Amino acid sequence: MLMKATVSGSDVKTGGIALHNLQKRYGNAIAVDDVSLSISPGEFISLLGPSGSGKTTSLMMIAGFETPDSGQILLDGKDITRLPPHRRELGVIFQNYALFPHMTVAENVAYPLRMRRMAKVEVEKRVGHILDQVHLGALASRYPHQMSGGQQQRVAIARALVFDPPVLLLDEPLGALDKKLREHLRNEIKTLHKEVGKTMIYVTHDQDEALSMSDRVAVMHEGRIRQVSAPKDIYRRPADLFVAGFVGEVNLVPVKLKSGTVHGPASENLPAPEWQEADRDATLCVRPEHLHLKTSPPGSSGGLQGRISGMTFVGDATIFQFRSETGLELLSKVLNVLPETMPGVGDPCVASWAANDATILTE
Ligand SMILES: Nc1ncnc2c1ncn2[C@@H]1O[C@H](COP(=O)(O)OP(=O)(O)OP(=O)(O)O)[C@@H](O)[C@H]1O
Ligand SMILES: [Mg+2]
Repeated sequence: MLMKATVSGSDVKTGGIALHNLQKRYGNAIAVDDVSLSISPGEFISLLGPSGSGKTTSLMMIAGFETPDSGQILLDGKDITRLPPHRRELGVIFQNYALFPHMTVAENVAYPLRMRRMAKVEVEKRVGHILDQVHLGALASRYPHQMSGGQQQRVAIARALVFDPPVLLLDEPLGALDKKLREHLRNEIKTLHKEVGKTMIYVTHDQDEALSMSDRVAVMHEGRIRQVSAPKDIYRRPADLFVAGFVGEVNLVPVKLKSGTVHGPASENLPAPEWQEADRDATLCVRPEHLHLKTSPPGSSGGLQGRISGMTFVGDATIFQFRSETGLELLSKVLNVLPETMPGVGDPCVASWAANDATILTE
């Protein structure tokens, strides 16, 4: 009896990706500089960073459309660094995704399968299934120009998923859409991720998108990964000043670390996490929603002395501008939920925060 060859463990594609010291130059400019990252099977990870930080270049090296100058890319432990794109079998949605305008939705989605010479019956079955998954079953015979931007986007996602790749690479897939639609599709992609269980590597420069969708976020700047953490930790425990400033609003207070305590610009004691290392200058970071302003008689201690210098109503919250006696400008964000009396412009205040809500950075 003929035994069907069993697939050995190393051939099973579960979608684990490892990047080792990836480097890519264009002329003298380094686009990607020593990027290492380990992505678990089924993980949703975002590459977040400003324009030109190397996100697309990193993704294109994973996809095989760019070749690294040095470094290694592993898919489920197998070196794919020099494998052509079609042999990597990864689903890709490009930054400027393009559907074929002369093909219907179903034909667009079937395209990757036809390229793989799959039997017609099987093609129809798979296309029907994936279109249902992205809720486009009813629009299969439309052409791209007869659809909204969000619907076209879902066709692009279906086309990238139809051949059942272990990994889906998405480059700013919602970039061209308006805010409402972006938020809607954000949730749809997240739901789809849960349903299909694929590894997803999602490139974006939109911090809300990265924080709300990802298991982990890798923040990139000038070709390097500055921090890889769960969204909560990226926000609450930024690893450096770039991450602190790029993700959300942040107040920065220049401080001196001395004998385990943190001294502000007027040598006042400031609340901060415990500090054990050597004495030095540093920056204390605290988010506006963690910075509390208390009207107080002059001379009271426990924070920065100063005055309210302005306030802005932003709907759900009020943003207070605070100017310390030493000239620091800080922001305090207060949700407009309580009918409490708010301080007014010109009022003397103490700006303070809980020790655990501050981060000390020493770069
Ligand atoms: N083909 C190329 N030739 C020369 N330079 C390039 C090329 N592709 C990218 N670069 C440069 O490499 C750097 C990283 O580009 P990349 O496209 O990876 O950035 P990105 O983070 O995706 O930015 P964006 O958010 O604008 O899409 C940039 O400085 C860019 O100008
Ligand atoms: Mg890009």
